[in-house]
Amino acid sequence: KTGLTALDYGFVNTAATASKVTYIDGDEGILRYRGYPIEQLAENSTFLEVAWLLIYGELPSADELAAFDERIRRHTLLHEDLKHFFSALPHTAHPMAVISSALSALSTYYENGSSSNDPEQVELTTIRLLAKLPVIAAYAHKKSLGQAFLYPDNRLGFVDNFLRLNFGTMAEPYESNPVLTRALDRLLILHEDHEQNASTSTVRLVGSTKANLYASVSAGINALSGPLHGGANEAVLQMLAQIRDSGESVQRFVERVKNKEDGVKLMGFGHRVYKNYDPRAKLVKDSADEVLKDLGISDPMLDLAKELEQIALEDDYFKERRLYPNVDFYTGVIYKAMGFPTRMFTVLFAIGRLPGWIAHWREMNADPQTKIGRPQQLYTGSAVRDFPRR
Ligand code: SDX
Repeated sequence: KTGLTALDYGFVNTAATASKVTYIDGDEGILRYRGYPIEQLAENSTFLEVAWLLIYGELPSADELAAFDERIRRHTLLHEDLKHFFSALPHTAHPMAVISSALSALSTYYENGSSSNDPEQVELTTIRLLAKLPVIAAYAHKKSLGQAFLYPDNRLGFVDNFLRLNFGTMAEPYESNPVLTRALDRLLILHEDHEQNASTSTVRLVGSTKANLYASVSAGINALSGPLHGGANEAVLQMLAQIRDSGESVQRFVERVKNKEDGVKLMGFGHRVYKNYDPRAKLVKDSADEVLKDLGISDPMLDLAKELEQIALEDDYFKERRLYPNVDFYTGVIYKAMGFPTRMFTVLFAIGRLPGWIAHWREMNADPQTKIGRPQQLYTGSAVRDFPRR
């Protein structure tokens, strides 16, 4: 028979991947990193402490965390030659394209050091990625502004160093703002892992070929950049701005979404796994008001987002399809209040997700049973046929 479809086979391949890193219950809206509920980690922990938890499986002792922090600080400098790499790119380059290509370029400075089989090198690459991705990200931001790059200041903590690289200038020192630092640290925690999402599955698939961690993470960044995945946080702000600038009512916009006019979607809504409220979206929404108030900012975009959510949650179209806000729906409003341009939003997602990518790659790489990834195919093409006689 020709033209078979997956439905003819009566099933869709659901081969599952085993992992100890993160647990999600999509119906109950539960998310736990190594067994700890995300709500408790967001409230009580820090980005680096959670990164250690994800990568090594247990919370670090105070000494372990201090040593981890110190090692990361001592690896923040990029090779000077990478500046030529950045100068070759147009200032209009999308920061996601900059950081994914910069990570591939970074690996060329550690050619023999990026082996997957040497535990010492895997450890060093882990530290280098955690230390250098934020610097590369800030360079992408500065590049887009036409501003000079700053050098990392190892006296500063992880988040403060990153904020200073983005918002400090050669002309004046960066004043740390504890509200900004704490808010960004929490947002990064909320993004650190999410089991077998598209970008993490990409990192695992690339890593399963024994490609090194730089190459695997660079591939993950590219997967994350899509507007159906991490790129959604940027797409949400574009959607809100389009509604505001068009003068279209929120109700009319929602009608267009329901009628699927021009394929328009309610960005920041829906999820492959959560068929309930994404627990991260709830935490972000709760902190959005607090962060904007603490920063002394009021943004009509936040009110517009809340109005949009309210209408959608009461509408049968979204209820029947179990569409709720996901992690991307409210984050952009906070990133905007912090001063990040919209095109940096998904870069912030990538910095947050890096520890999860590393944890999954190391979990897979350490397992001797790991086989090269090879997704099963259901053939639905033509049956055998002869080439026509000529
Ligand atoms: C992330 O996997 C992860 O864990 C990802 C992530 C992580 O931490 O790594 O959580 C991060 O990527 C969050 C998702 C960010 N993406 C967006 O916000 C983009 C908008 N959302 C959609 O594109 C969609 O909801 C997906 C891609 C997120 C999920 O798609 P599904 O589960 O495959 O849903 P579907 O496409 O099968 O849709 C089911 C129905 C369809 O309607 P019908 O054909 O049945 O009439 O729901 C509709 C869809 O049209 N639908 C939407 C919608 N999402 C689904 N309609 C309007 N707006 C939407 N956002």
